[in-house]
Amino acid sequence: MSQFVSPWRGEPETVGTVAVIGMGKIGLPLAAQYAARGWHVIGVDVLPWVVETLNKGRVHIFDEPGLDERIAEAHAAGRFRATTSHAEAAGEADVVVMIVPVMLSEVKEPDYRYMDPATQAVGAGLHPGVLVVYETTLPVGDTRERYRPMLEAASGLHCGDPDEGFLLAFSPERVYTGRTFHDLETYPKLVGGVDATSGARAAAFYRSVLPAEVWQLSTAEAAEFAKLAETTYRDVNIALANQFAAYAERMGVDIQEVIRGSNSQPFSHIHQPGIGVGGHCIPVYPHFLVSRAPELTLPALSRQVNDGQVGVAVQAVERELGSLEGTPVLVLGLTYREDVKELAYTRALPLIERLTFHGAEVWAHDPLLSDEEVARTGARPWHWGDAGPFRAIVVQTGAKQFRSLDPAWFPELGVVYDGRNSLREVPLPEGVTYVGVGVPDVRGGSRARRAPVAGGSGRR
Ligand SMILES: NC(=O)c1ccc[n+]([C@@H]2O[C@H](COP(=O)([O-])OP(=O)(O)OC[C@H]3O[C@@H](n4cnc5c(N)ncnc54)[C@H](O)[C@@H]3O)[C@@H](O)[C@H]2O)c1
Repeated sequence: MSQFVSPWRGEPETVGTVAVIGMGKIGLPLAAQYAARGWHVIGVDVLPWVVETLNKGRVHIFDEPGLDERIAEAHAAGRFRATTSHAEAAGEADVVVMIVPVMLSEVKEPDYRYMDPATQAVGAGLHPGVLVVYETTLPVGDTRERYRPMLEAASGLHCGDPDEGFLLAFSPERVYTGRTFHDLETYPKLVGGVDATSGARAAAFYRSVLPAEVWQLSTAEAAEFAKLAETTYRDVNIALANQFAAYAERMGVDIQEVIRGSNSQPFSHIHQPGIGVGGHCIPVYPHFLVSRAPELTLPALSRQVNDGQVGVAVQAVERELGSLEGTPVLVLGLTYREDVKELAYTRALPLIERLTFHGAEVWAHDPLLSDEEVARTGARPWHWGDAGPFRAIVVQTGAKQFRSLDPAWFPELGVVYDGRNSLREVPLPEGVTYVGVGVPDVRGGSRARRAPVAGGSGRR
């Protein structure tokens, strides 16, 4: 194991003390990773109960395999503790990693309500020689233009001086919740400093905490942009897949066959169409990009297409059943995707809202949520296996459980709208229509073409 030194100044084979600001779904696994590589880690959070739990060697996040063991081990080895005091942690640390959320406001602008106070509180504790790294996704230019002056003002130190001031870099966090440790070990770690010394110090830090390759980009802006470009690419790609799905449906062609065929050419990477895109990242970061670059018109259009998929689903159900007034409808899957207990930007919420607006009585089930949590979405909880009066089922996540759905539970069922194309193999009784996204109508053995509609659904 590397030698613990204080202060740590980036020499190879040495480790020091790191403060991780924000003990959430990403910050806590980062803390565990750094401690496992020999660093002394101080976790900072504003929630006292989180800090108390962590200081007992326990965790409050349960959907990250291996997290509890790693934290228990680091705590027992004396390499991990938590505090609510940013200044105290920053005062002891050689490196401060910022991983509290920056979200999206109602008007689709970056919302800094957590990161700004976290930055000011950290700034108050900075000491000469410390490195601050932002890992939270930021609009291009924020590390240099927004947070450098804020840290300078709060600390009274100059940025860029490794002896008398502090160093500053950006390094995007690109992991996928539920497999964070695997991704930390395998994805190249991008790093960009606001100056060369900051970039080099940040690269040295990541080389000492990760087995993955570290790529030092020439500026913080390049690293910020790389994360926004990667997530926006995926959103635009999905929007294209959704438009292709609408066209495939109209032509009586199966979009899955098309995508498989296209993607057999190594330069084609068409993503999956579906009922929409949720989660912290993909629906949010195109807005961060566009907030500073209005000339980028494709990302804004793609957001509209992807958000419009909920309306496509509701229209398809209405087309099958007629009016939804007083119609019992079951929504399956409420989290933004299967296997992650996270409701951030889930499309289930606008789906429930829209079905309700059209007069439907909405029930819902998610294998990861309790009755109370389901009720908070505005739907009534339904329990797996219970009989129900539902005329329609709308599938919003691809949870494995849903593949064992038994249509016999729902004698009144008329239509299944499969928003993730994950139930295509489930046998449905005569008289129940299956509608997938870009899946053609093959009832009666022939594929029917349909008139163009504003969206992409298909019938089986
Ligand atoms: N969740 C993901 O899948 C994911 C993936 C890649 C990157 N990210 C990045 O990580 C960031 C954080 O995401 P997350 O999922 O860990 O968020 P989270 O909501 O799970 O956790 C955020 C934590 O920060 C704490 N916090 C809020 N204000 C604070 C403050 N002023 N000081 C200290 N702590 C504070 C909260 O109490 C909470 O514990 C995101 O904004 C995103 O940029 C997230």
